[in-house]
This record gives sequence, structure tokens and C-alpha cells, in this order.
Amino acid sequence: MFPTTETVKCEYILELENFVDASLDRIRSHPFIAAGFDRRLSQQQIVRWLMCAGRESRSFPHVIENMMERTDSPKIVHILEQNLQDENGHGKLEHAHFTHYLDLLKEIGLSNSNFEEYNEKAGIQLTLSLAFNISTQKSQGISLGYMLVNEGMTSITYASMRSAFSVYFPAIQTPFF
Ligand SMILES: [Fe+2]
Repeated sequence: MFPTTETVKCEYILELENFVDASLDRIRSHPFIAAGFDRRLSQQQIVRWLMCAGRESRSFPHVIENMMERTDSPKIVHILEQNLQDENGHGKLEHAHFTHYLDLLKEIGLSNSNFEEYNEKAGIQLTLSLAFNISTQKSQGISLGYMLVNEGMTSITYASMRSAFSVYFPAIQTPFF
């Protein structure tokens, strides 16, 4: 007997979920992320992470816009649109994620110019150009697969950093993480 379309779909989705879960497990056990959870990062390391996270936060809305321009499924466009609205604070600049980021910098005594002057090194440069390239290439499967992992990993990396920050900035109030 041939599998029905529904069965194929389910198997495909299960396989996709397994790939995403495996990626997230790798991220969770990455030495840097594990050290964040265990509060073993130095202040210098977390500030450097913060500078890179800001570059990523600033560019992420453009990644979503690129994907929206290249997606032909109205359902997916709608989901991406919701994500973009969320990034942009639903029309309120003070709730935009990048504004939360700049507020966090201020909270720990860093300025916008500290952020602007940060000298990007290879890791963050690769991350940003990978995101840009993936969001502008033709295969929607690849770009959406990237997005699944990217969205899934944020809650892991931010939880790790919240834990790492609590050592040096215990009174931190930010909604960024
Ligand atoms: Fe965000």
C-alpha cells in the first residue's frame, strides 16, 4: 500500500521536528552556552556577547522582510508579518526589540557609541552574512528551516545569558532576554 498524502506529511513534519530538536540540543550543549547557564562567563565575555547580540537584533527585522519578499505562501507571509510586528514593537518604538536592547546597554552602563564602535570579529560577521544570504536565496525550505532553528535557539541563548548576567548585574530589569 502507498502512504497517503497525510501520512507523508506527518512523517515529513516529524523528520523536520527531529532535525530542529537535534540542532537545539547542540546549541544547548555548546560550551559557551553551557558556561552561561553555569555562570562561568567573565564580564568581558558577556559584554562581547551583548555587542554581537545587538548587531543580530538590529539586522533581524531586515532578514524577516527579505524572507517575506520571497515567500509565495500567504500563510507563511502572515506568520512572518506577525514576527516582524513583534520585532518592531507593534508600532510602538519603545517596545521594539532593538530598543529593549539599547535600554539594556544603558542599564549596565554602556552607551550607544560603545555599541556602534564595537569592532566586529569573524563570528558575528559570519552570522550576519549567513542570515542575510539565507534570507535572500530562492529556496523557501532552506530559509524557513534556518528560521525554525534561529527562533528556537533564541530562548536558549537568552536564558543562558540571563543567567550569566545575573552574576555581574543582579538587579537587571531588562525585557530583552
Ligand atoms: Fe527579537
